Amino acid sequence: MKTVLVTGANRGIGLEFVKQYANDGWHVLACCRSPVEAAALNNLVEQNKGHIVVYSLDVAEHEQIKRLSRELSSETIDLLINNAGIYPTSRSDGFGSTDYDAWARAFYINTMAPLKMAESFISQVTKSNLKTFVTITSKMGSVTDNQRGGSYVYRSSKAAVNMVMKSLAIDIESTGAISVLLHPGWVRTDMGGPNGLITTQQSVMGMRQVIGNLKIENSGEFYAFDGQVVPW
Ligand SMILES: NC(=O)c1ccc[n+]([C@@H]2O[C@H](COP(=O)([O-])OP(=O)(O)OC[C@H]3O[C@@H](n4cnc5c(N)ncnc54)[C@H](OP(=O)(O)O)[C@@H]3O)[C@@H](O)[C@H]2O)c1
Repeated sequence: MKTVLVTGANRGIGLEFVKQYANDGWHVLACCRSPVEAAALNNLVEQNKGHIVVYSLDVAEHEQIKRLSRELSSETIDLLINNAGIYPTSRSDGFGSTDYDAWARAFYINTMAPLKMAESFISQVTKSNLKTFVTITSKMGSVTDNQRGGSYVYRSSKAAVNMVMKSLAIDIESTGAISVLLHPGWVRTDMGGPNGLITTQQSVMGMRQVIGNLKIENSGEFYAFDGQVVPW
């Protein structure tokens, strides 16, 4: 049985990853900040008896990441999905009103946490068959794609994580492990809002297909949910 670990698993895209992988018979390690409040996730656990185990994890807290890695030291993790992310409000992310504390927080969650997860779980991932790290980034982190300006905090945190996970791909190449960046599309979630172009189901189905076709030569690439290569 294959095992996937998902961060930010209690709602939005993360919750859908849990649902689809569990439906496919995977063992799912579903991480979220507050398991007691994760009603939708706990319902999935009930519906998929034995497939999903919920763990408490705030990815901004490195001690929590290290503690969870120790707790899961005997696990083999085929696929680690860095999904947890934040999008600061427009009040804290516009020219002239930049909230620099919010910027630092966005970097902790969107940029640093994926690397800390990789550093902490490298042994569980490299002993698996698939050996894959996936980081959910955004087209808003593409320098080439930036035609509208603004969103300094979010854009820079995602551009930076793109660079971080590209470096990771090079550093882990000799182990046969893969690191890729995925743009999920504009998705109708709390973050994407009601005008998003696709549902979480469509986004995750597409990303699972991309993940399912990954080979070592794809490591370090930046793909959209529909398999298109996204320019840096
Ligand atoms: N939706 C889109 O259109 C879109 C587009 C491009 C990229 N993305 C990316 O896709 C990923 C998922 O987004 P989404 O649309 O599903 O967002 P969402 O509905 O707002 O969900 C965000 C998830 O991240 C979790 N999270 C936030 N801070 C965390 C922390 N410190 N520790 C652990 N978990 C934390 C949230 O948990 P809590 O419930 O505890 O806050 C929640 O589970 C993000 O990385 C986002 O940047 C989304």
